[in-house]
Amino acid sequence: SGPETFSPTGLPTGADQAAMAQDGAYLTTAQGGRLYESDHSLKAGSRGPVLLQDHHLREKITHFDHERIPERVVHARGAAAHGVFRGYGTASQVTKAAFLAKDVETPVFVRFSTVLGSRGSADTVRDTRGFATKFYTSEGTFDLVGNNIPVFFIQDAIKFPDVIHAGKPHPDREIPQAQSAHDTFWDFVTLHTEATHHTLWNMSDRGIPRSFRMMEGFGVHTFRLVDAEGATTLVKFHWKPKLGVHSMVWEEAQITGGMDPDFHRRDLADAIEAGAYPQWELGAQTFPDTPEQTFEGIDLLDPTNIVPEELAPVQPVGLLTLTANPSNFFAETEQVAFHPGHLVPGIDITDDPLLAGRLFSYLDTQISRLGGPNFAQIPINRPHTPVNDMLRDGMHQTAVHRGTAPYRPNSLDGGCPFLAGADTSAYIEVPVPVPAAEKVRKAPASFEDHFSQPRRFWLSMSPVEREHIIAAYTFELNKCYEQAIKERALQVLANIDPDLCGQVATGLGLPAPKPTETLAEVDPSPALSQVGRTWPVD
Ligand code: HEM
Repeated sequence: SGPETFSPTGLPTGADQAAMAQDGAYLTTAQGGRLYESDHSLKAGSRGPVLLQDHHLREKITHFDHERIPERVVHARGAAAHGVFRGYGTASQVTKAAFLAKDVETPVFVRFSTVLGSRGSADTVRDTRGFATKFYTSEGTFDLVGNNIPVFFIQDAIKFPDVIHAGKPHPDREIPQAQSAHDTFWDFVTLHTEATHHTLWNMSDRGIPRSFRMMEGFGVHTFRLVDAEGATTLVKFHWKPKLGVHSMVWEEAQITGGMDPDFHRRDLADAIEAGAYPQWELGAQTFPDTPEQTFEGIDLLDPTNIVPEELAPVQPVGLLTLTANPSNFFAETEQVAFHPGHLVPGIDITDDPLLAGRLFSYLDTQISRLGGPNFAQIPINRPHTPVNDMLRDGMHQTAVHRGTAPYRPNSLDGGCPFLAGADTSAYIEVPVPVPAAEKVRKAPASFEDHFSQPRRFWLSMSPVEREHIIAAYTFELNKCYEQAIKERALQVLANIDPDLCGQVATGLGLPAPKPTETLAEVDPSPALSQVGRTWPVD
């Protein structure tokens, strides 16, 4: 079934459709009892008192009282759309994933988001954007839960609560909202210099996209592809917008945010309604799966690194087209539950320590956000394949499971014994060896270079892009109250580039410090100016 045939009920049968349609000739209670009036409470006389026995009043108010669910702990503000993904078949050389095979069409649901703002915040703030895609494949659901920035602030999931606490509003007065104007944000990213690369992307034009339709997307982590023979290849996923990459300028973002804080969600919905279906190509940067898991000296398990496209070109593997708006925001956009561990045969994880924590976090948070363990039964989260999972009961269970023996093998219900290892169409973890090592709480030495990639990014910028970056750092740092934080931020900038540091220092009215690190030798050739830039528009 394609996206146009998506049914919010998930069960397009007579009784269920009628119940959900809410368009009968008369109003009813939740039990289907017919009402003659819904505008007045039941009272003893027209001037009251109101009677407790009015079940309709209590049912209506009680349900309203419980209409809200917790917003996402991060990425609370989002907008989404249905669409279709068509594989080019080019990836079939390196992965057996069925949805990437030539001309296979797979329904998808994509949710774009900001990270730090609450559900009612403005679209146009300077922030990272989420770009999460649910592929309802013939082999089960695959989620690519990415961002519009190819690197992350931290290298280990244990720091995630810390970086988010630093970026969210101050605990005392709940201001400010965005990551701008925050002593805690700048305190964190200057004390944790692995955050330098992501912060620089945020301060660039990438932090204020023109439209969701004009953003790149990145899987960020390195994943592992597996072909039919079991051979493996490391991969980084990229989404390349057919409309190219475009940003707002800061003043434009401010005015737009004031006049239309819903600018991005309106832009997405309007474009789809008008038939201007947004498109992205899914691309893959592939690397040999060597025991070191490095490429050209870059540690592929460090999510603060990119691999420049000059060194590993992004190869197109399929086309995503968004074709339909959600019919109900709550049912679809709000209740959708992505998870980086929703994988299909042919795609596996690597040992990136940030990814490891994500694999735990999403299911955990969704149990509390979506009220128990059965949210995979919510229509938007149902796979488009049969489910036979032996999971039973629990809060909000809607399935009426059959049989008496929810375990396998059993001698009562029969059928479906495990064919241990024999079912080659199943998802099988790649048997990569785990090194014999002692337990430690520390990062590898290869995670220690925090400045050469930011320097490469800075040097690849055009003069006007550099002006924007300088203005962004100057504006944001000027909002910090603590002088020590500004000075530490200037030290970080000095380790990226003296010109960047000098100009921001002038804007802050502070002296520019000398670098404390040797500036990396980076080739500022014109080719490098294309690093992470626009995709050719055809
Ligand atoms: C949402 C945790 C890193 C992309 C979320 C949510 C949590 C979370 C708890 C809310 C999920 C929900 O309520 O349904 C984490 C942790 C991370 C991490 C613990 C690191 C240790 C990342 C990274 C990316 C990312 C590196 C990008 C590659 C997203 C996106 C969403 C999200 C796009 C929104 C999904 C949606 O639209 O519903 N994350 N995250 N996160 N995260 Fe992460």
